[in-house]
Amino acid sequence: MDNNDIINKTIQFVKNKLEGAEGGHDWFHIERVYKNSLLIAQDEVCDLMVVKLGALLHDIADSKFHGGDETVGPAVARAFLEQEKLPEGTINHVIKIIENISFKGGKVKQEFTSIELNIVQDADRLDAIGAIGIARAFNYGGFKNRGLYNPNLAPNLNMTKEEYKNSSAPTISHFYEKLLLLKGKMNTVSGRSIAAERHRYMENFLSQFYAEWDGEK
Ligand code: ADP
Ligand code: NI
Repeated sequence: MDNNDIINKTIQFVKNKLEGAEGGHDWFHIERVYKNSLLIAQDEVCDLMVVKLGALLHDIADSKFHGGDETVGPAVARAFLEQEKLPEGTINHVIKIIENISFKGGKVKQEFTSIELNIVQDADRLDAIGAIGIARAFNYGGFKNRGLYNPNLAPNLNMTKEEYKNSSAPTISHFYEKLLLLKGKMNTVSGRSIAAERHRYMENFLSQFYAEWDGEK
């Protein structure tokens, strides 16, 4: 089987696995991250097969859906990749990407780095900002029964992630807690430049939002 066949098979595998996944992590999220990854990879010297497989498999079994067990995703991916008879080096690298992608800068120290991981991580972050990022945030907020915005509740930037998750903070707070910070965390030059544009779009959205909230035209 050539690499193209393996990618097509991986696409089918991921689609099946994500059947019925919630809106923020469905197949279309993976497809967007895949496309963003290919776009960023054009400007980098990298192993394209690792980038493609990493993008397709990065959310294969989010620990959120497995009681926080971080080993399920990598194990599921490894079993699949071994079946496809890929070189051991490729398999190990893709697994490292899955293990390290959602590094949040928190408790766990990120101990692996590569250009391929940087590309997929940037691609994943791009999908959390801009128009898509705004849509995903309000979709998530609705799912969690959060309000849109509360003018009496100034965003508390000192909250920890846990405090924030358990708070009744409205969705607009998520912009200050996470979305507006992503631009500063990008790894690659092209990722940074796409993020800058999407960031501006979010800032425009917020100023329009506040203007409309206050009854301005
Ligand atoms: P990741 O896929 O990077 O692990 P999450 O699973 O935390 O990100 O979030 C998935 C999507 O839901 C992202 O677009 C994110 O911005 C959004 N989201 C996560 N937490 C919140 C929240 N508290 N309020 C609004 N949107 C959120
Ligand atoms: Ni993702």
